[in-house]
Amino acid sequence: MQKENPNSQSFSPSLVLFGALGDLSLRKLLPSLYQLDKAGLLPEETQILGLARQAFNNEEFVQTTDEALIRFIPKDELDSAVKQRFLQRLDYQELDMKESTAYAKLKTKLADWNPLVTYYLATPPAIFGDICSNLNASGLNTPTSRIVLEKPIGHDLASSKVINDTVGEFFNEQQVYRIDHYLGKETVQNLLALRFANPIFADLWNHDHISYVEITVAEEVGIEGRWGYFDHAGQMRDMVQNHLLQLLCLVAMEPPTRLDSDSIRNEKVRVLEALEPMQPHTINKHLVRGQYGDGHYADKAAPGYLNEPDANTQSSTETYMALRADISNWRWAGTPFYLRTGKRMRSKLTEIIIHFRPSRHFIFDADQEPLAENKLVIRLQPYEGISLQVLTKEQGIDKGMRLRRDPLHLDFAQTQGSKRLPDAYERLLLEALKGNQSLFVRRDEVEAAWKWCDQIRATWEQSASPLHTYPAGTQGPHAAYDMIEAFGHRWYEHC
Ligand code: BG6
Repeated sequence: MQKENPNSQSFSPSLVLFGALGDLSLRKLLPSLYQLDKAGLLPEETQILGLARQAFNNEEFVQTTDEALIRFIPKDELDSAVKQRFLQRLDYQELDMKESTAYAKLKTKLADWNPLVTYYLATPPAIFGDICSNLNASGLNTPTSRIVLEKPIGHDLASSKVINDTVGEFFNEQQVYRIDHYLGKETVQNLLALRFANPIFADLWNHDHISYVEITVAEEVGIEGRWGYFDHAGQMRDMVQNHLLQLLCLVAMEPPTRLDSDSIRNEKVRVLEALEPMQPHTINKHLVRGQYGDGHYADKAAPGYLNEPDANTQSSTETYMALRADISNWRWAGTPFYLRTGKRMRSKLTEIIIHFRPSRHFIFDADQEPLAENKLVIRLQPYEGISLQVLTKEQGIDKGMRLRRDPLHLDFAQTQGSKRLPDAYERLLLEALKGNQSLFVRRDEVEAAWKWCDQIRATWEQSASPLHTYPAGTQGPHAAYDMIEAFGHRWYEHC
């Protein structure tokens, strides 16, 4: 019989937010909690304790949160009665998170709170270990406690193991919720519904019917004052290792036996483990690195990466990556997955394109054969929807059997009449409080993703892979177009 996980599927009404005055908390976490409250998803007894080093009192924390809500929530979504109710849930305590003796005061504070506590670590990973060890030593880690960890979990496999080992010394895996905020996005979840609830797609989802898959995550933003962090990360660590690989896993994984967290995560790990390493002799054909130069953004001149404030002008960190990933398994052998992501691109766009193979026998005019490919476009950002490109006959008696490609289009906001789509953090906070780990990344997933990325990084360093420049506000380096075209494929916007 399966041992019951004491940690799962019960609502945790006590939330302790480490780093409560940081950017993530004020911009995302507290506004998301307000939205959950507004949607009636926080039980009455929910209490939120903010912790940070600043010597604030409760009133100052409430006031700072109030200002953040006004700043980050659209006016028409702020309801003053809900806001008052939400602000009353807040409490604050000053805490030196590294100082073990300071936790006695925290224990006293939590003594009459509901013992089902979730600790959210919106702090640099360098202090995860101290926090976990101090919570444990002060008796604040019970079998029902949960701990939520923000990315990055390390900067390579070795450092991620150190973080996971330190956390794992005190919290078992069933207590740990590692965030990848892409897993909280509506369409990412919809991928599971699309793939596994629609037999029409389920039966075609393999190398026999799909010629290639594209995953594009283009960002309009640049480095946004994070130059120091970003320069050590680059787009490979900041985006590919987590968000893009999670999307790839959801597109490529086998159907899980059930929709529970371990069944889903087992399948994702299998995909990561089947990713082929890069070979030194092919890396320059399979991978393109880029860095934005001076250009334009929102109709204004925008500085290149090396001219951003605080920049080291010698940096060779990539702000753009395009690469071909191959998955060595029965389902995908021979179907490449092309991933690309960049900062300071023309517009914000996240989409997955499934290119279906053309039919084997084409009976229409031969010049139309290149048209004959169905594509499924799964759009995550800026709006969420799905569109299937199908071929139809051009209307008109003079048109003969000329073909045209039209989209069968689903815009989720329209079809489902939803006024607003919840932010990814709303869903993730709710699921962590409910004790559902499906949308969180398990340790073996993080490590398998790092292993693959580390191998690629090491190979490009040995092979002195070139760094291509692209002007800010454009679609990335030409080399990325040459790369995919060399395999007989094209990025969607060029199809
Ligand atoms: C974060 C990265 O994880 O994701 C940022 O650290 C990036 O660099 C952000 O800008 C993108 O998230 P979204 O939801 O805006 O696509």
